[in-house]
Order: sequence, then C-alpha cells, then structure tokens
Amino acid sequence: MIVTIDGPAGSGKSTAARGLSQRLGFEFLDTGAMYRCVALAVLQRDIDPADEQAVVDVSRQIRISFSESHVILDGADVTQAIRTAAVTDAASQVAQYPAVREALVYLQRQAAEGVDIVSEGRDQGTVVFPNAFCKFFLIADPEERARRRYDEMQAQDKKITLEEILQQIYQRDQRDESRTVAPLKPADDAVEINTSCLTIDEVLDQLEQTVRDRQ
Ligand code: C5P
Repeated sequence: MIVTIDGPAGSGKSTAARGLSQRLGFEFLDTGAMYRCVALAVLQRDIDPADEQAVVDVSRQIRISFSESHVILDGADVTQAIRTAAVTDAASQVAQYPAVREALVYLQRQAAEGVDIVSEGRDQGTVVFPNAFCKFFLIADPEERARRRYDEMQAQDKKITLEEILQQIYQRDQRDESRTVAPLKPADDAVEINTSCLTIDEVLDQLEQTVRDRQ
C-alpha cells in the first residue's frame, strides 16, 4: 500500500510523513533527500549545478541508501551535510533535469516494491505513484513556512533573517512549480490540507483518519 505526501518546502510534509509512517507501521521514503544527495555529490566534485550533462553523469554514478533515519551517500553518512543552504539551493536546480529525475524515480519505485510505504516529495502522487492508495497535498502560508524554517535555523544557531528565508522559499517554490518535468502541483485525486493553523498532532490525526477510513 502506498501513501503519498507532496507539497512545497516548509509545508510540514516531512514531519507529517515520518509521523504517519510510524502510526501506520509503514516504511518512510524522503525523496527530497535523494535530490539533495545528487546536489551534494555535484558540489563535492566542484561541478556547476548548471552543467546539466555533468550533473546527470554524477546522478548515475552515486549510490544513495537509507539506514534508519540516516541518509547514506556512497557509504558516508550525509544526514547533516545535505541540509546546508548551498545544498538546498543546488537540489532544486538539479531536480529540473529530466535524466536526473528518471534515475531517482526508478530508485523510488524500487524502494516501494513489496512494502507498505509513505513517500514524501513533490511529484509522488502525480508522477511516481499515480495509482497510490491515498494521496495528500500539504500547503501552508509562505509566512508561516518561513517562520517554521526560521525557528529551525535559530535552534541550530544559523544566522539568517526571516526576510531572507522568505525570499529563498519564494525562489524555490517558483523553480519547483515552473519546471517542465514533474512540476510541483497536487494530483487531481489528492486530499489537500492547509497546515498553517494546525499542530503536528492535528495534521497527523487528519492524515491517519483519512487513510483508515479508506481501508
Ligand atoms: O523536500 P526537500 O526540501 O528536501 O527537497 C529538496 C528539493 O528537491 C526541492 O526543492 C525540489 O526541487 C526537489 N524535489 C523534487 N521532487 C521530489 C522531492 C524533492 O523535485 N520528489
């Protein structure tokens, strides 16, 4: 059984997807982490993310795996390294290339074979798993999404203003929504939830209830 959760950056989908997978006893797949791994590998090799052919070559060379809640790139634990601002920005650039997406979509479908899974990203309900059992699209007001990211950054002692974060969010949304391949948008049959005024437990209750009602 496959449950998909898509939505823009900061909509709360990562926390929601992880929590829902625990409540249902399903596997969890963070597909954003896979695009981040390609971006990190590109930056580590001093390759310009705008060089499509070089990026595609890298995406075919690397090995990405998950161990518990850790992300492993070519044998190294990159769980923290893929969360920097530089990787975040490069991830949405490399995600525009069709051949990169093709390679990662193949891995995502492989990960879902024979297991119950909650898969989270931008195109899980529209492109990767069009026949998923249950699809969700989470949204939140940009200001609220920026505030959540700002709180995370403050907790990590990172120096950035709320205004800068808001700008980054607008830029990333714009890139993700306007790309020609697998743009960020809800599937026709997705349940849309605005998480702006909800606690994480309220979001999880809604998600879990929707899945259980369909079972
Ligand atoms: O979700 P996260 O912020 O980790 O994703 C990083 C970037 O990877 C996104 O901005 C988006 O460009 C890309 N992505 C994607 N398709 C997915 C998941 C992530 O294009 N399924």
